[in-house]
Amino acid sequence: MKILVVGSGAREHILCDTFVKLGHQVLAAPGRESLWQGVDSVSVQAIDIPGVTNWAKANRPNLVVVGPENPLVDGLADRLRQEKIPVFGPSARAAFLSEGSKAESKSLMRAAKVPTSAFRVYSDYDAAKACIMSNPVPIVVKASGLAAGKGAYVCKTREEALEALDQAMVKKVYGKAGDQVVIEQFVAGPEVSVMAICDGETCLMLPSSRDHKQAFDGNQGKMTGGMGAVSPAPGVTPEMMEQAKDRIILPFLAELKKAGAPFVGCLYGGLKISPSGLLMTLEFNCRFGDPEVLAVLRRLAPSVDLAQLLLQCANGRLDPIWETRQSGLWLPECAIDVVLATKGYPDQDKADYGKVISGIGEAHRIPGVAVFDAGSKLAENTTRVNTSGRVLNVTAIGPTLEKARETVYRAVGCINFQGMQFRTDIGLW
Ligand code: GLY
Repeated sequence: MKILVVGSGAREHILCDTFVKLGHQVLAAPGRESLWQGVDSVSVQAIDIPGVTNWAKANRPNLVVVGPENPLVDGLADRLRQEKIPVFGPSARAAFLSEGSKAESKSLMRAAKVPTSAFRVYSDYDAAKACIMSNPVPIVVKASGLAAGKGAYVCKTREEALEALDQAMVKKVYGKAGDQVVIEQFVAGPEVSVMAICDGETCLMLPSSRDHKQAFDGNQGKMTGGMGAVSPAPGVTPEMMEQAKDRIILPFLAELKKAGAPFVGCLYGGLKISPSGLLMTLEFNCRFGDPEVLAVLRRLAPSVDLAQLLLQCANGRLDPIWETRQSGLWLPECAIDVVLATKGYPDQDKADYGKVISGIGEAHRIPGVAVFDAGSKLAENTTRVNTSGRVLNVTAIGPTLEKARETVYRAVGCINFQGMQFRTDIGLW
């Protein structure tokens, strides 16, 4: 198959790598050079909808897989479908209803009776402030629009909640994404991420995973796009995964279909496990979780053709045989993924970019390790340097989480660049 993967982060790198290993012809728009072995770069940005569409019209890939949420919310999948090009990724409307608007997503959850916390939506600052002042803490304040995973604040005090509101609605740190906010009840308990490959109606659940969202050890510091992940998520039972499918993913898919927006793509659920084992939904995303997908796909059995699976979804007919093969699709090992970030991440100072990265080859040579590229480039074709907040994802698999942790941190120890920032407690909660 000729496959175009849209995006340039570690999520897209592992998708490309998986397809390359299966013998497919893989191109990425725009992708990255050199670490993305076997992948040809198409010099079109992921958010350039006409650019990607024109390339696809001219080159007729058998499948397009869209990585990030922004081009989906902006209608890339719709444009490709109009051109009869199979695409794994939801329509603009399905992307908006699931992720692009936290307010709409919560309303749909309520309509579908998907378990989620009580919430209110505000477009008026004073009304939102009054809500914060009259409700108990902890309380959650979220920018309703897309904010690269950084617009949700779990606030332990009212002062923190008012500060979060100020960031979103007054200082506009997330731009228009903060025009509307969702204020919701805090749910206690460990988090779990679930991802489902969907054909508009049915789905195949991927194994559970769990990420670490704050910048520093001990869940300190700012929310980030994710600092690391493991799969499977500790403490998640097969019964919980069934519950996630039957009570959360399938009812939400049915509600989207009812709203005229059938969801084709990866539906991501950020869930909490209540003390009684009941799952509560914090949020949905309309694409593979990053960094979770790195841990999950490291566990995909090498014989499983992920591209065929995604193509069936793109064509609206996921074969039920996958479900019966479920246990053979995944390696029993544990996988872990540690993000190496630029100094100061998630804040950005371009002065911290361009630092020379060493040791990737050495890390790769450790059995069980694979390194994925989220934000580096070759300078003058010889030296690799960092170019963004998240730089590399170091992954490892092992028979237990402890062994996988040992291996991944041995690999992390091989790599260095000035100001390199990472958490030392990925996989520990
Ligand atoms: N790791 C959370 C996300 O992908 O949104």
